[in-house]
Amino acid sequence: MTQQTNQSWGGRFSEPTDAFVAAFTASIGFDQRLYHHDIRGSIAHATMLARVGVLTDDERDAIVEGLNDIERDIEAGNIEWSVELEDIHMNIEARLTDKIGITGKKLHTGRSRNDQIATDIRLYLRDEIDAIGSELGRLREGMIELADRHADTIMPGFTHLQTAQPVTFGHHVLAWQEMITRDHERLMDCRRRVNILPLGAAALAGTTYPIDRHVTAELLGFDRPAENSLDAVSDRDFAIEFTSFASILLMHMSRISEELVLWSSAQFDFIDLPDRFCTGSSIMPQKKNPDVPELVRGKTGRVYGHLMSLLTLMKSQPLAYNKDNQEDKEPLFDSVDTVKGCLRAFADMIPAIEPKKTSMYEAARKGFSTATDLADYLVRAGVAFRDAHEIVGTSVAYGIKQGKDLSDMTLEELRQFSSDIHEDVFDVLTLEGSVAARNHIGGTAPHQVRASAQRARDALKPAHAGGAQ
Ligand code: ARG
Repeated sequence: MTQQTNQSWGGRFSEPTDAFVAAFTASIGFDQRLYHHDIRGSIAHATMLARVGVLTDDERDAIVEGLNDIERDIEAGNIEWSVELEDIHMNIEARLTDKIGITGKKLHTGRSRNDQIATDIRLYLRDEIDAIGSELGRLREGMIELADRHADTIMPGFTHLQTAQPVTFGHHVLAWQEMITRDHERLMDCRRRVNILPLGAAALAGTTYPIDRHVTAELLGFDRPAENSLDAVSDRDFAIEFTSFASILLMHMSRISEELVLWSSAQFDFIDLPDRFCTGSSIMPQKKNPDVPELVRGKTGRVYGHLMSLLTLMKSQPLAYNKDNQEDKEPLFDSVDTVKGCLRAFADMIPAIEPKKTSMYEAARKGFSTATDLADYLVRAGVAFRDAHEIVGTSVAYGIKQGKDLSDMTLEELRQFSSDIHEDVFDVLTLEGSVAARNHIGGTAPHQVRASAQRARDALKPAHAGGAQ
């Protein structure tokens, strides 16, 4: 541990930083994750500086070579991070100077750690967004295939978690797919605002060197330089936007998880989750627990927490950079890790779900799920909807007393309630007739479900090709 003042900014200090304060203010413990993007940013900066004549080509080459060496050292595990050097930027810069001498000290010309860190996080997040985008694509694909395979598989549809009307399992799964598609779109929209270059803003006001920010932007694949230097170093709303995308996604995955947990219970008995996604109990030998969906449901809370942390972190900050911003990283990193973990588990698990067709079908037969179909039948025979509703209500009350579903009643039994009921009523009282009758875009009829799956597949193609929608 050094007793000198900090080599990067110690010039105006008369005593070294207190050891506890150094540890308290350091970010190297977590921002080391940014090493690759920090090095890429520095290489682009040095390249631009040489292009505009602030560095010589030799100096640039020495810097670029030194930085690439350092990246290899880091990846080989040959680097010890120093808390005295505070953060990833100063750790790498000090290492560069150790390696290439005085030229290393020129790298920071026309730059500040304020625009450097803002650039690093954006580069990091852009890569993570692309990785998450392809996992979302994989999940959507799995859902579409599962839905297509089960376009005819009948299950009860619920409102208030009470049996409402029969739907197909494929239709239900495509509802999930819609949620995930909107999340995918939100992510790609967020990417557009992430992909803006802060470098050049320097500490807050810009720099006196004749920099060319378009060159740096192009070298790093950013769409354009940030318009305002004060905003560029202090804006973190791109991170808030990402975390809000993550929160909404996890909210959706949590809803899906809740259904999977319910459905895999003995009481519902709708699905079988493959053993590889479940665990047993150390005491109850019969147990097979749906751990993966339970954990995804549980992890939703921490991501909401990160969103709240970031919103609160930013809410009172005056322009421009404040040290508060160092607190943006851990919530962001953990949100990224959590989203990636949950998505990987889901993308593997969802297509492997096995619906228990007989059990779903039997459940749909209970609870008078075709009552609305009987009412619609009466309306087609000229009965007013309110009267039809009343007639069917009375038939259901009779069915409850007799322990019979509507489709189990004889024609005579049904005709006690209305003389408008004829033999063809059984076409609409069956589950197959009920789902087939909802035959329009967005309806649960099997061929509509297949058509919808096809449209979903088509929408996915450009997303896969371009990484965006
Ligand atoms: N570790 C800092 C952060 O994460 C880097 C920027 C520090 N800038 C400064 N002027 N102290 O935000």
